[in-house]
Amino acid sequence: MNQLLARSVIRGLITASNSSRQMSSSSSSPAVAAATTILRRFDEAAVVRDQSLGFGYGGGARWGRMMSTAVEAAAETRDQKASGAVDEKKEKEGGELMVSSYWGISRPKITREDGTAWPWNCFMPWETYRADLSIDLSKHHVPKKFLDKVAYRTVKLLRIPTDIFFQRRYGCRAMMLETVAAVPGMVGGMLLHLRSLRKFEHSGGWVKALLEEAENERMHLMTMVELVKPKWYERLLVLTVQGVFFNAFFVLYMLSPKLAHRIVGYLEEEAIHSYTEYLKDIDSGAIENIPAPAIAIDYWRLPKDATLKDVITVIRADEAHHRDVNHFASDVQFQGKELKEAAAPLGYH
Ligand SMILES: [Fe+2]
Ligand SMILES: [Fe+2]
Repeated sequence: MNQLLARSVIRGLITASNSSRQMSSSSSSPAVAAATTILRRFDEAAVVRDQSLGFGYGGGARWGRMMSTAVEAAAETRDQKASGAVDEKKEKEGGELMVSSYWGISRPKITREDGTAWPWNCFMPWETYRADLSIDLSKHHVPKKFLDKVAYRTVKLLRIPTDIFFQRRYGCRAMMLETVAAVPGMVGGMLLHLRSLRKFEHSGGWVKALLEEAENERMHLMTMVELVKPKWYERLLVLTVQGVFFNAFFVLYMLSPKLAHRIVGYLEEEAIHSYTEYLKDIDSGAIENIPAPAIAIDYWRLPKDATLKDVITVIRADEAHHRDVNHFASDVQFQGKELKEAAAPLGYH
């Protein structure tokens, strides 16, 4: 503020002196010289500050200003305020709002391999992948121990209201279930993160692995939302279910992480089953095999003419990977070991 105030006073002095200069055509007054020197000093300081913060934006203009007179600098500043303010705030690029920030936050220009602009902020090209479709979808953990049976029965019980509510509306069902599926990874990752901090020890990569799973599940949801628009009562149901499920899973993970991971393993087995039924309905024509949403084509690196069937196929492969990760995490702990003792499956989709 003080700097702005000082600039205004100095510019006032210069403007007044310029007027008198035009009338008398005499040399600059000492006041103008002093003002010019001071203003240049402000500009030099601004350039140093901007460079130290890593700003590219406006740097060239400032260097130019240092080479010119203070009067030109003042005019330039006015021009920027008049016409450049909007550009500084907004720059439309690929439909995105670009904000030039004092904090130096800006997204570099990112393109696809074919040179077209990358349209997503929620994930970057290096986070995309091709789903491993060779994964065995039929794998099942046979419940033998007491806690395994508890986990298995819990998931089978949870499926009853889901079947009644959604029946064969698999688009809607998948969308709603993905709102739940993205919770366990976040809760587990968060609790392992806190444990790592408390105990001053590594997590063995499990914090990252579980958070990756949560993000992958959230991308399933972002894809499903492109296909199915939730109704108001479904949004209400998501609110209620999330409130209950997050807290229940949080407490469960604190008490018995091996049971929590086993339950997630069985939930993923159910997800594979649901997506298999979804694919059957697409094959039979009961569900139209519409073109794949753009977000799915980029996230899973699908061909441009990919369809809903391709999307559901790669999501189902993801669920199979989550099944394996969670049953594996449970197995590690059932063997009396800690998760950090086993290498975490990073980037495992
Ligand atoms: Fe999912
Ligand atoms: Fe999953």
